[in-house]
This record gives sequence, structure tokens and C-alpha cells, in this order.
Amino acid sequence: MNAITPLALLMDHDPGHVPVMLAEILDALSPHDGGRYIDGTFGGGGYTRGMLSHAACTVWGIDRDPTAIARALALSADLESRAPSRKLVTVPGTFGAMGELLADEAPFDGIVLDIGVSSYQIDEAERGFSFRHDGPLDMRMSQSGRSAADLVNEAEADELADIIYHYGEDRMSRRIAAAIIRARAEEPIRTTARLADIVRSVVRPDKTGIHPATRTFQALRIAVNDELGELQRALDTAPGLLAEGGRLVIVTFHSLEDRLVKRALAQAAGRVSRPSRHEPMTERFIAPDFVLPHTRPVLASEEEIRRNPRSRSAKLRSLLRTAPSASFRGSRS
Ligand SMILES: C[S@@+](CC[C@H](N)C(=O)[O-])C[C@H]1O[C@@H](n2cnc3c(N)ncnc32)[C@H](O)[C@@H]1O
Repeated sequence: MNAITPLALLMDHDPGHVPVMLAEILDALSPHDGGRYIDGTFGGGGYTRGMLSHAACTVWGIDRDPTAIARALALSADLESRAPSRKLVTVPGTFGAMGELLADEAPFDGIVLDIGVSSYQIDEAERGFSFRHDGPLDMRMSQSGRSAADLVNEAEADELADIIYHYGEDRMSRRIAAAIIRARAEEPIRTTARLADIVRSVVRPDKTGIHPATRTFQALRIAVNDELGELQRALDTAPGLLAEGGRLVIVTFHSLEDRLVKRALAQAAGRVSRPSRHEPMTERFIAPDFVLPHTRPVLASEEEIRRNPRSRSAKLRSLLRTAPSASFRGSRS
């Protein structure tokens, strides 16, 4: 190895995406030498680098975006030659499928998810995530499948309105959907700027100064990438992949996601309302295998919010496995 320490090597990275609440993530995961971790949202690799800097461990880095996978492969090769006791295994795919993708590698000492898009994705106009940079109306993290343009040009008015209402929590959903239908009858909607103009033509900016199209863009992104379905599948699977003492740590950025996470973690930890005396006691209610290290979400510090405004809406929740899973008894853990 040359004079660069693993720590310097790992922290010396392209700041295309500033990791949110990295110190709190590492605190919650407590990576240790020899540990096995999943980073389900590799992105720019900020959390992976943090874990690998902290301990001589192995990280399986999942991402559905081919450009993130290319970054992971580069880091993995760099580690192999310069810090071989720290390993990154690159896993193209979705975190909702982590059960199938990584069943043979379980159990894990930690799983982390940083839900949402990376700055690499948002800042690149060609990816079509943002109305701040005009580009093709795309929004596909995996760069395959149905794009946002396909959705806005093909969906029925009711489907569009439902998406904008449920995933954007926008009360103007019907009005926006009607405007989209009128506009696309003249000419298909192909760019982010045109969609933003269509929304702005029927929704006046409010006092918050937030662009009127913000919620519509959020809604389409969630629909195009099936983000809530993916999150629910991960919540159903991840706890079962943890070793005793293993932690699941999730950062979310809006209330739709946080609600799903809060409910699933509380249920896993047996924090469900007491069953009626007419219902049989479930085993999970009597002896949950998990605890919640914090009942309230951990938030970014004021200092981090000043440095990185994206962290303002972040909420970190975690779950700790306190008993071994029957499926892994006598195995690696
Ligand atoms: C917010 S970024 C993660 C940033 C990362 N924590 C870092 O510090 O660099 C989210 C990443 O997760 C990926 N992603 C989002 N949903 C996914 C899913 N269901 N399966 C796999 N990757 C996903 C996105 O492509 C993006 O690269």
C-alpha cells in the first residue's frame, strides 16, 4: 500500500452528493472490523465510504442507477488495490429486492437506506428530475422502463390526478391534471420546463415561495420509480436479514416515506396497540426480536442544515435486532 491511509483514501471523494447526517448514520450503525453491511442506496457512496473508513468491514452497495453503479465499481477497484481489508461488493438492482439479491450473504450487521434522489441525479438536466434545469421529462433512476413523459402523455386524467394528490399531497391535483390533458392535446409534453409552465399556469405561487410545480414533480418521481412500493418491500424484508445486534437505519425526506418507516419499525419492535382480549396474542407481541433505539426520529443539526439545506427535512429512524433470527441460528452471526 502507498502512503495514503485507508481513511484519507476513502474520504477523498468527488463531492457530487453531500451525504446527509453521516455522523448520525455511523453512530446508529456502529460499523466494526469484520462487519457485514448493506448500503441499499449507494448513490455517491458517502455512507459506504463512511462505514469503510470507520472499520475494516465489507459493504454490499446496491443502486438501481447505472451511473451510481459505475461509481461503486470504481471505488471497489480502488479499495482492492489500496485498502484490501475493506471491501465493497457492487450490486446493481433495487433495495426492494435485497432479500433475493443478497439472501446467500445474510445475516448482516447493518443495513442503511437513504431514500430519494442524489444530487448527481437532480443536478443533471438530462435525467429530467428537476424543473430548475430544463431537460427531457425522464425521472427514471434505473434509466429504463416508463418515463415521466410516458406517464404525463398517456395516463387518464383520473390516474394523473390521483398520483398528484396521493404522492404530491397537492390539493390542486384535479386542476393540474386537467391542464396537463389540455396541453398534451396540443403537443406532447416532453420537457421539465414545459411541465413546470403548465402547472404554473393553473396554480398561483403561495406565500412559502415554493415553486407551484414542486409537488407535481415529487409525485411523478415517486410514481415513475415506484418509490413507496420499493420502500415497503425493503421494510418487509430488511429486518429479517439482520444478525443479532444488527441495525436497520433509514433516512427519509418526506412524510409519506416517514409514515411507512415509522409504522413498520414500531410494529417490528412490538409497539403495536394491545390486541383485543378476543384476539390471540401473537408471538411478536409477546416477545419482539427488535427494539427502537430512539422512539423519535433523529434530525440534522442546525449546523448541518446551514451547510447543507437538503438535510432540513431528513428524518433518521432505526431498529436494533436483539435476538437471533431462527433462520440464521448457528450461521455466521
Ligand atoms: C439520496 S441518494 C444516496 C446517497 C448516498 N447515501 C451518499 O451518501 O452518497 C439515493 C440513491 O439511491 C438510489 N435508489 C433510490 N431508490 C432505489 C431503489 N429502490 N433501489 C436501489 N437504489 C435506489 C438512487 O438511484 C440514488 O443513487
